[in-house]
Amino acid sequence: MSYNLLKGKRGLIFGALDENSIAWKTAERAHEEGATFVLTNAPVALRMGTIKTLAEKTNSEVIPADATKVEDLENLIEKSQEILGGKLDFVLHSIGMSINVRKGKHYTDQNYDWTHKGLDVSAMSFHKLMQTLYKKDAMNEWGSIVALTYMAAQRVFPDYNDMADNKAYLESVARSFGYFFGKDKKVRVNTISQSPTPTSAGQGVKGFTGFMNYAEKMSPLGNATALECADYTLTLFSDLTKKVTLQNLYHDGGFSNMGVSQEIMEAMEE
Ligand SMILES: NC(=O)c1ccc[n+]([C@@H]2O[C@H](COP(=O)([O-])OP(=O)(O)OC[C@H]3O[C@@H](n4cnc5c(N)ncnc54)[C@H](O)[C@@H]3O)[C@@H](O)[C@H]2O)c1
Repeated sequence: MSYNLLKGKRGLIFGALDENSIAWKTAERAHEEGATFVLTNAPVALRMGTIKTLAEKTNSEVIPADATKVEDLENLIEKSQEILGGKLDFVLHSIGMSINVRKGKHYTDQNYDWTHKGLDVSAMSFHKLMQTLYKKDAMNEWGSIVALTYMAAQRVFPDYNDMADNKAYLESVARSFGYFFGKDKKVRVNTISQSPTPTSAGQGVKGFTGFMNYAEKMSPLGNATALECADYTLTLFSDLTKKVTLQNLYHDGGFSNMGVSQEIMEAMEE
């Protein structure tokens, strides 16, 4: 269903790799809600992925940018405003990557070059993105910036590895930069803490299927899907949430406030 929630709004969407990506679903829904936007991803991901299909479907242009490179971000933000015909109303940071996770390197045996790279891609890129938007005064007043995160920033999930630390940094940057963006530009900044979701990044985490099943059984409403995450993200881009900022918002079917569920108790008694 479409509500015209984003009619006339211009945006920038990072991280649509394939049709499972949370950013992909968000782009499809934002298009349905009347937004125009530019899609972006790392040059290597653009070569591998299928973003062209999404661009055609949503009538958008694609500009490559490595989110760790400030020059790429500057070019992206300038060109996006030219293409869209003005400042931006919304930005989605939907980026995550850990080489330690990818290569099965244990948390107690990190390769720090990889740790550093993962931190840059997954977390510091959010600061770089916001600093570039801020310096270029590229956001409209009452605009909205959202990044995606996971509850391993607050609680221990051993196999989430160094991504847990990256998410803690990301959430802190959202609050710290959100203060200045709110004060100086009336722009809100929030993170959405999403359920485990079967995407390329999600499935890279060791034991992902077992963990998804566990979360499903623990959450009174069940795991939130990528499409449901897209819907929630759109509400934060809309004018209906203008005073929501500096928040880490759980979108997880209730998982984050659970102690134990009936299903888990039954499984333990077997
Ligand atoms: N899947 C889950 O279980 C889950 C749960 C909570 C939060 N998240 C978060 O959601 C976000 C989106 O991930 P997803 O699950 O849709 O997976 P995904 O693999 O589809 O998306 C990750 C994206 O990051 C992009 N990326 C990697 N390096 C980059 C770089 N240097 N510059 C620009 N882009 C780069 C990839 O190309 C890819 O498009 C991530 O922040 C992830 O941590 C995912």
